[in-house]
Parts: sequence; C-alpha cells; structure tokens
Amino acid sequence: MMRLLIAGGAGYLGSVLIPRLLERAYKVDVVDLFWFGNHLPRPVGTINKDIFHLTADDLEAYDQVIFLAGLSNDPMAEFSPSKNFVFNAAAPAYLAYIAKNAGVKRYIYASSCSIYGYTENELYDETRPVASSYPYGISKLQGEQAVTQLQDQDFSVISLRKGTISGYSPRMRLDLIINTMFRTAVRDHDITINNPSIWRPILSIDDAATAYIRAIEANPKISGVFNIASGNYTVGEVGDLVKNAVEARLGTRVSLAIKHIQDFRNYKVSFEKAANVLSFHPTGDVRSIVNNLIDNMEKFKDWDNPLYSNIQTFRKMESGIEIHNLMGTVVGAA
Ligand SMILES: NC(=O)c1ccc[n+]([C@@H]2O[C@H](COP(=O)([O-])OP(=O)(O)OC[C@H]3O[C@@H](n4cnc5c(N)ncnc54)[C@H](O)[C@@H]3O)[C@@H](O)[C@H]2O)c1
Repeated sequence: MMRLLIAGGAGYLGSVLIPRLLERAYKVDVVDLFWFGNHLPRPVGTINKDIFHLTADDLEAYDQVIFLAGLSNDPMAEFSPSKNFVFNAAAPAYLAYIAKNAGVKRYIYASSCSIYGYTENELYDETRPVASSYPYGISKLQGEQAVTQLQDQDFSVISLRKGTISGYSPRMRLDLIINTMFRTAVRDHDITINNPSIWRPILSIDDAATAYIRAIEANPKISGVFNIASGNYTVGEVGDLVKNAVEARLGTRVSLAIKHIQDFRNYKVSFEKAANVLSFHPTGDVRSIVNNLIDNMEKFKDWDNPLYSNIQTFRKMESGIEIHNLMGTVVGAA
C-alpha cells in the first residue's frame, strides 16, 4: 500500500483530494497547523505540527510527500511578506530536502500560475519566462525552483502550476474567483467584476484533485513542471457564466457591476504538457463549478464566516484573536 504524507492537507484542496485518495486505498497522513480547522475523514492520520518541526526520520515511512501548505493567496502574502517568504519558499524547500534524505521517492509541489505575473495575452506554456514581482508569486516561484533542483533519478519532483481553484470543499473558501462571485450573486444578487479584460486560468476543485492523482500515479521516472487548469477565461466571461448559471438554477436576477481596476496578474496557460505526460484531461468548467456550489450551498450559507476568507482568518490569528471553527474548536491563536 502506498503511503503518502500531505503537508497542508487540511486546507481547501486537501479536504477534497484526500477522500479521493482514500477511495484508491492509499494510506494518508496529514501534517498541518489546522489554521482553518480539520474537516478530514477519520482514517487520515493527523500530525499537528509546523513543517519546520519535522525531521528526515519522520518521513522515512512514506513513498511520496505532497506540499499543499503555506500562505495561499496574495492578500495573506501582502499582509505578512516575511512570513510569506518563510512559509512559501523556505518550507517547501526544507520539506523536499528532508524527504530526499529520508529516501522518499516522489515530491509533489503545489505551484501556481500566478508566477507568470502580467503577460501580454499570449498562451503560456511551461518554457515561457516567469516574471512575478509580488510577494506571493515570487515566493511560489522560489519554492518551485528550490524543489526542482533536488530532482534526480531516485527522487522525482513534480510541480503543478495551478490556475485559480473554485468549487465546494468541506474546508470552504469564499475568497477564490468563482466562489467569491457566487457568494455575492446569491446573497446580494450582484457580481462585481474588477477588470473584465484580465485573463485567468480557472481550475475546478475536482480537476485539481485529479491532477494530484495523476501526478502521484505517474511513472516514477517522470519529473517536471506542469500547468494545470480546466480552461482559460477572461474575468468578464467568468462573471457572465456565473450570473447565467445562478439565474438558471435559482431563478433570481443577478446584476453585474463592471469596473476597470488595474490588475498585476494577467495570464492564460497551455495545459497540453499535463495532458501528454500525466494524462490529465480536465472535465470541469465555470457552469459545472457553479452547479457544484449550488448543490452544496446549505453547508456554507453563513457567508460571512471569517474561516471562509484566508486573509480574515490570518489577520485575526496574527493579532492573537482566537478563531472558532464550525465545530466550536479553537483553531488559531497567535
Ligand atoms: N486555492 C488555489 O486557488 C490555489 C491555486 C494555485 C496554487 N495553490 C497552492 O495550493 C496549496 C493549497 O491551497 P489551498 O487553497 O488548499 O490552501 P489553504 O490555505 O486552504 O490550506 C493551507 C493549509 O496549510 C496549512 N499550513 C500552512 N503553513 C503550514 C506549515 N508551515 N506547517 C503545517 N501546515 C501549514 C494551513 O493550516 C492550511 O490548513 C497552497 O500551497 C497554495 O499556494 C492554491
């Protein structure tokens, strides 16, 4: 039986990925600081620890180690740039280093398309230059470069440069493009589009989990960097599609407020390499993501819960205010 250690596995993506790994009879342990609580199924072993407190001895039992931790968006990174560089650049490097020393066979790193920064509306593949100048993008690139240079014939390293994920997770986030639009579309009957011309690769959470499964199960000789997305859209088109899907399913009218605010991220990516090398074929799109949100809406209708917003939770944690998750457990305090 393959044994996997997932750092940051209690987060938004891990909480969808892990039940799918258990279905495939993998043995999964999670090391996490549980900033947003624990919504993982019972058979998962949990280690409540900072990655920096692990040693190579702790990793000897695992075949693969997956990094899903860190500060996972721009607002968190800008709120605490110093913590961002420690958690997003140094932590994945340290974890890959001890994993390799422990004899782990594969390391999978949660990279991000945000490392492409502001591009000129061309389709970017993995060979194109990366040029992010903001803390989150720089740190994700530093993490990717550090782990990539550790790869060799006995240590496979796969980095998945993901587009913005959306859809329902038991550890819910409402601060991700489609989830944010969905929240205001249902709650306030309107959607604000900050800049309709900006391009973004969109990734359904189910496709994101599938990409990790393809990476885990890829031939041991495969290493590399892969763009992962369900499709490329302008933010204006995403807004239209969310509006139409909500109106069609919920029978309400939703209005659009179009603004033209400058954005520092604009990119669309080719995910052909992931199709050719990993057999990753996405099945999600904006409509299926909205339908998935509607199907699960009763579970996150407390729209203003700070746990659904990474920056709100993080700000409170940093200022020492205790945060209670839905089960009433204290999940974070400085
Ligand atoms: N969500 C997206 O749209 C997206 C897109 C591209 C890349 N990514 C990357 O994918 C990963 C997962 O994203 P997510 O949305 O699930 O994030 P998340 O914020 O929901 O979860 C991150 C988890 O990591 C844990 N954590 C953070 N630092 C830790 C540390 N030092 N030691 C132990 N645990 C720690 C937190 O407690 C949390 O449970 C992140 O690395 C993120 O940068 C996410």
